[in-house]
Amino acid sequence: MAKVKTAFFCQNCGNQYPKWQGQCAACKSWNTIAEEVLQKAEAPKWQDSSTLAPRTMAAPVAIKDIQPTSEARLLTADNELNRVLGGGLVPGSLVLLGGEPGIGKSTLCLQIALCANFRTLYVSGEESSQQIKMRADRLQHQNPNCFVLTETNTAAIFSQIKTVQPNVLVIDSVQTLCTDAIEASAGSISQVKACTAELIQFAKATNTPVILIGHINKDGQIAGPKILEHMVDTVLQFEGDHNHVFRILRSHKNRFGSTNALGIYEMLSNGLREVSNPSELLLSEKDDSLSGNAVAVTMEGTRPLLIEIQALVSSAVYGTPQRSATGFNAKRLNMLLAVLEKRAGFRLGAKDVFLNITGGIHVDDPAIDLGVVAAVLSSTNDEAIAPNVCFAAEVGLSGEIRPIPRIDQRIAEAEKLGFQTIYISKYCKLEHEYKGIRVKLLSKIEELVQIH
Ligand code: TYD
Ligand code: MG
Repeated sequence: MAKVKTAFFCQNCGNQYPKWQGQCAACKSWNTIAEEVLQKAEAPKWQDSSTLAPRTMAAPVAIKDIQPTSEARLLTADNELNRVLGGGLVPGSLVLLGGEPGIGKSTLCLQIALCANFRTLYVSGEESSQQIKMRADRLQHQNPNCFVLTETNTAAIFSQIKTVQPNVLVIDSVQTLCTDAIEASAGSISQVKACTAELIQFAKATNTPVILIGHINKDGQIAGPKILEHMVDTVLQFEGDHNHVFRILRSHKNRFGSTNALGIYEMLSNGLREVSNPSELLLSEKDDSLSGNAVAVTMEGTRPLLIEIQALVSSAVYGTPQRSATGFNAKRLNMLLAVLEKRAGFRLGAKDVFLNITGGIHVDDPAIDLGVVAAVLSSTNDEAIAPNVCFAAEVGLSGEIRPIPRIDQRIAEAEKLGFQTIYISKYCKLEHEYKGIRVKLLSKIEELVQIH
C-alpha cells in the first residue's frame, strides 16, 4: 500500500512545513501548525481529461496587439452588489464573500439567486433543501431557474453542473467543500485550497461567475489561508452590527473595479433591502432640542454619509474618569479631549465622557473629529447645537482645523439633505459656490468654542 503522504500547514496563513513546529515562521503565530493528509489521487476535474483539448503552448504577444474585449458583465438584480463589483459579475470570475456567522451571507446570496433573471445554482453544504426553501419563502422572490443542491463533494457538484448549466454558481460555503483528491477533512487548509483551485478551473473554462461564501475567524479574517484571497478575483466582506439593521458590503480586493465602492443594506423580516440614501435613515431619529448631539459628514467609500454623534459628559464618580466610545476609535477620542483641555481650557480630566455613533456603524474617517468635538462641547455646556448644522473637518494635535479630501462632495450631500450651515476648515479649497448652504470656515478649535 502506498505510504500516506502528510504535510503540516499553518491554519492561520497556510504556510506548509515538512514537520511540526511550535511557531509559524511566516506569520509568527503560535500553535497554529497542524498535520493534514495529502493523498495523491486522480483529481476530479469539472471535465474528464479525455475530453480536454491537448495543451497548447502559449506564445508571448506584444501588448499593443492584444484586442481589448469589452467583457459583458452579468447584471444581478441587486444594484448595490453590482456597484461594489464595479458594474456586475465578470464572466469566469471568482467572488469570495466573507462575514461573521449570522450576518446575512446566505440570505444575500440566496436573494441574488432568487431575483436573477438567469439560471442560478445555489450549492449548500450547510443547510438542507427544506431550510433553504423556508428562507426563500421569507424572501418572497420567484425565479423558476434557481436550483438548489445540497452537496459538498466537488466531483458530485461538477457532475450536477453539467445537467443544470447555470449562469451563476453560488457555493455556501467553501469550508464545507471537499474533494476526493485530498484526504484531509473538510475545512482544512489543503481542502479549501484544492477545492478553490478546482472551482477556478471550472469558472475560467466555462466563463461562469462563481460566488464563494467564506467563514471568518475571530480576528475578522477569512478562515483558512490568506492564500484563498490571493486565488480569487474579488474579496467582499459583509459586515454590520447584529443589534442594528444596517449591513455594509465592502470590497477588499477587486481585479475588475475599484475597492472604494460600498453597498449598504437593511436587514428586514423579508430579506435584505438596498439602502440608496443611508444618510436619511441615519438621521431620521434626530431630536433637535437635545444637547450632546452633532451631525458630521463622513465618506463610506465614494459616497458621502451624514452620521449623528452623541456625547455625554458627566462628573466622574471614580478617581479615574471613564472614557468610552462606541463606533469611534477610543484613542482618537482621548486625543481630541486632550486637545480640548489644552486649547480650550476645558477641565475634562474630572469628567466621564461617553461617545456613540448612532446606527451601529463604525467610523474611522478623521473628518468627523470636528463633529465629535462639537458634541462633547455641547454636552459639557448642556446647550443643544442649532438644528441644520453639520461639521466636516479633522482636528490636529495643536488644535488646528485641518482640511479633508472630497469636501465638495460632502458639502453637496449636506445641502441636499437640507442642512443650512456646515463648518469646515479654512484651508479647504472649494471648487463650487454654494447657495443653499452657508459654509463657515474655522482655523482653530478656539473658534468653535466661541460659537457655543
Ligand atoms: P444568514 O444569511 O443565515 O447568515 P450567514 O449565512 O452569514 O451566517 O442570516 C441569518 C440572519 O438573518 C438571522 O439572524 C435572521 C436574519 N434574517 C432576517 O432578519 N430576515 C430574513 O428575511 C432572513 C432570511 C434572515
Ligand atoms: Mg450561512
